[in-house]
Amino acid sequence: MNLVLRQLNQNDESLFFEGLKEWQPNELSWYTFSWKPGMSYQEMLLILQNENQGIGIAPGRVPHSMLYGFLDGKIIGRVSVRHELNEYLRKRGGHLGYSVAKSYRNKGYATEMVRQSLEYCKNLGLESIMVTCADENIPSWKIIERFNGQLQDKVWDDEDKETIRRYWIELVG
Ligand SMILES: CC(C)(COP(=O)(O)OP(=O)(O)OC[C@H]1O[C@@H](n2cnc3c(N)ncnc32)[C@H](O)[C@@H]1OP(=O)(O)O)[C@@H](O)C(=O)NCCC(=O)NCCS
Repeated sequence: MNLVLRQLNQNDESLFFEGLKEWQPNELSWYTFSWKPGMSYQEMLLILQNENQGIGIAPGRVPHSMLYGFLDGKIIGRVSVRHELNEYLRKRGGHLGYSVAKSYRNKGYATEMVRQSLEYCKNLGLESIMVTCADENIPSWKIIERFNGQLQDKVWDDEDKETIRRYWIELVG
């Protein structure tokens, strides 16, 4: 599969905005946390670089890498990699958050993006990572279990009013 997961660079501006069109305005965070309507690409790149290096991180946030899935010249999804956990992420969110645009779903792309993001996590020096998902999100927990995710527990999330599964994936050993 010709899918490459990587950070955005200076040459990706048009691909980034093309990829954005796959998402409704209310789904924006499934594509980007950093870009807001009206923001320039350069401004967003700077935010991403700083977040990646842990510079000027807002309270409650942690160093973070946004990796995009490039398939045949298109951005079809993303994986958000949190370099460490805080209290919020331990409860819900974990180290990884992934999404694939609707028109590309159920073709194995999220599985491949997660596979590549596990390598990225290893290179960050992480030995195990937490991944969470809604109990009802079958594709998501199938992906986690594909990579031998061990279910820690299921907990009620009062904010989103749903049960979530919390898994750990071992990266070494
Ligand atoms: C979850 C999500 C990333 C999955 O992306 P995807 O590219 O469709 O996933 P894949 O094609 O790699 O499929 C993963 C598994 O789910 C299965 N699957 C996919 N769509 C499914 C569906 N609608 N119902 C049941 N199983 C499904 C696939 O068959 C595959 O299982 P397998 O390995 O046993 O064959 C995508 O649905 C999405 O972006 N959803 C919105 C954001 C989200 O919920 N992210 C997860 C947050 S934790």
